[in-house]
Amino acid sequence: MSNAPTHESDVQTPATFSPEAVRSAVRDVYGAIAKKVPAGKTVVGTDGVSPVEAITSALSTSNMAAKDASCCAPTCCEPGDEQPGTATAPPVASAASTGCCPSPSGYTEQLGYSKDELASLPAGADIGLGCGNPQAIAALEPGQVVVDLGSGAGIDCFLAAKKVGAQGRVIGVDMTHAMLDRARSLAASEGVDNVEFRLGEIEHLPIEDVSVDVVISNCVVNLSPDPARVFAEAARVLRPGGRIAIYDVVALQPVPDALRQNIAAIAGCMGQASSVTDIQAYLTAAGLTDVKVEVSEASRKTIAQWMPGSGAEDYVASAAITARKPSLA
Ligand SMILES: C[S@@+](CC[C@H](N)C(=O)[O-])C[C@H]1O[C@@H](n2cnc3c(N)ncnc32)[C@H](O)[C@@H]1O
Repeated sequence: MSNAPTHESDVQTPATFSPEAVRSAVRDVYGAIAKKVPAGKTVVGTDGVSPVEAITSALSTSNMAAKDASCCAPTCCEPGDEQPGTATAPPVASAASTGCCPSPSGYTEQLGYSKDELASLPAGADIGLGCGNPQAIAALEPGQVVVDLGSGAGIDCFLAAKKVGAQGRVIGVDMTHAMLDRARSLAASEGVDNVEFRLGEIEHLPIEDVSVDVVISNCVVNLSPDPARVFAEAARVLRPGGRIAIYDVVALQPVPDALRQNIAAIAGCMGQASSVTDIQAYLTAAGLTDVKVEVSEASRKTIAQWMPGSGAEDYVASAAITARKPSLA
């Protein structure tokens, strides 16, 4: 098979996993990561740790029990962490890792964040779970209301909060309690009071109609079993003239079954990626205009670190996704 990207929408074999199974796996994985990755560390670093190994570990009790192979095992990270073999055991396991917990240096910068942006964050907000930098495409202004779909530990919310200022407001939405706990405690300890984190699914946003200026998101929509519904929800909450500015993983050609039928690859943002044409269709069907999906070829280098040896970078890449809700006539 040619590895050349086609940007075509293609028929693929149906996924094996039910929407509920995907949601539950995604919650387990990101809940474990939220609890286990210490402040100042990210899931993937520059020392060869693969996120899919982390995810596989979070999903598999037997892997979690493999304490010797575990990177962020309690012995090398924080005392008092949950023991391996529990639902919240260490997410990061890597035979390839040469270090203990991975260093965050480099990974998040690779995604397009500046050193200044990263230095301005509360320690612990960057877990290295994004696939781009939505701030770079969101053109946020003071006073705006921003919603972050799948806000995780809050990296993009905290950066957006600085841009919108005291007159603005940022609402992070996430379905994983441990992520919300982490983000809320950072907001409280740093005294950031123009940010709030709400529990919810991005397919059913806990946000009023027509109340938001910009919807941002970073590496989340691909995790949804129903991306069309996510974009429809984003359109519902936007004010006329409001915008979507998202980074997400997209499929450049049909994703092979080895990734599509692998729950760790799905939870790792590769297995369920929509094609560029499907994303354009979802945004258009949601009533949005000025739809653009700009693939970052450079992101393939980053994605190659996610599941080394799988060739995922031949099939999926990160893309900047932007669209606008038409202004009232
Ligand atoms: C890959 S992480 C990205 C986190 C954050 N955006 C960042 O860049 O660090 C995915 C996050 O989205 C959340 N998530 C995934 N699917 C979701 C859904 N359907 N509804 C709400 N949150 C979801 C997960 O709980 C997790 O915190």
